[in-house]
Amino acid sequence: MAESVIPFPSKTFGVTIEKLNKSFDGVPVLTDISLQVKPGEIFVLMGPSGSGKSVLLKHVAGLEQPTSGRVLIGDFDASDPLTRRRVRLALVFQAGALFNSMTVYDNLALYPREHRLGTEAQIRGRVMHALQILSLENAVKQFPAELSGGMKKRVAIARALVTEPQLLLYDEPTSELDPVMSATITEIIATLREQTAVTTIVVSHDRELAFAIADHMAIIMDGRIRATGQVADFKNSTDPAIANFLNPVIDLKNPRFKQLENDHE
Ligand SMILES: Nc1ncnc2c1ncn2[C@@H]1O[C@H](COP(=O)(O)OP(=O)(O)OP(=O)(O)O)[C@@H](O)[C@H]1O
Ligand SMILES: [Mg+2]
Repeated sequence: MAESVIPFPSKTFGVTIEKLNKSFDGVPVLTDISLQVKPGEIFVLMGPSGSGKSVLLKHVAGLEQPTSGRVLIGDFDASDPLTRRRVRLALVFQAGALFNSMTVYDNLALYPREHRLGTEAQIRGRVMHALQILSLENAVKQFPAELSGGMKKRVAIARALVTEPQLLLYDEPTSELDPVMSATITEIIATLREQTAVTTIVVSHDRELAFAIADHMAIIMDGRIRATGQVADFKNSTDPAIANFLNPVIDLKNPRFKQLENDHE
């Protein structure tokens, strides 16, 4: 990883979620969510599949509108389209969301070109800097289909960096990666925050990631916040649902899928 400091803007924003409720076609997906993310911290949101993590993150990014309640970035309402002009936020999507018909270079250059953030030479400097930080210089001419899962994740992060975000959101940055690549991505997230003091929200199943880098964390279950606190609070949690989520015991004599079958009888 490059040692140089990325010149992200000094202004960074906290995020306040107030009594957020979201339903799709009358079916509640998020219920009464209130959370506080401080400026410059790494906040990790964990929870089982389908618990509402991605939907919550999309509310912060202004990609979903609350059914009730609100999300504030600093003092700005995340659902207001003007907020995206006042706050540079970047969302690293769960599946990367790279454009398959474009090279890695063009994927990264797209945003600065569309927003005319400089001459082509300046944009090139930004793109190459981001690729260098993520050790991707050799992938510059490749297409997404030619990349491994870990490289795609890194390209997605590099693309976020090119926008010089003041708020950086990651959706499952380490899913589908081997343990070493997961550790690498975790280190990248922590280093970027360290170098730039960018407020960072990470949605993840990855306990190792959360325990290594979270300043604060929360667990969401069935669309409700089950607990918030610091890593130590979760490591010592006496809540059986949290303990079982963080340290599931594989019991071949009494497997979970059999319990599920019994529940439905
Ligand atoms: N646009 C939508 N319309 C209807 N239902 C949706 C929509 N988006 C998400 N949901 C539902 O909301 C619930 C939460 O989905 P979400 O994607 O937030 O889960 P998640 O916690 O991110 O899961 P995973 O860990 O598998 O990514 C799911 O039941 C999902 O089917
Ligand atoms: Mg998700």
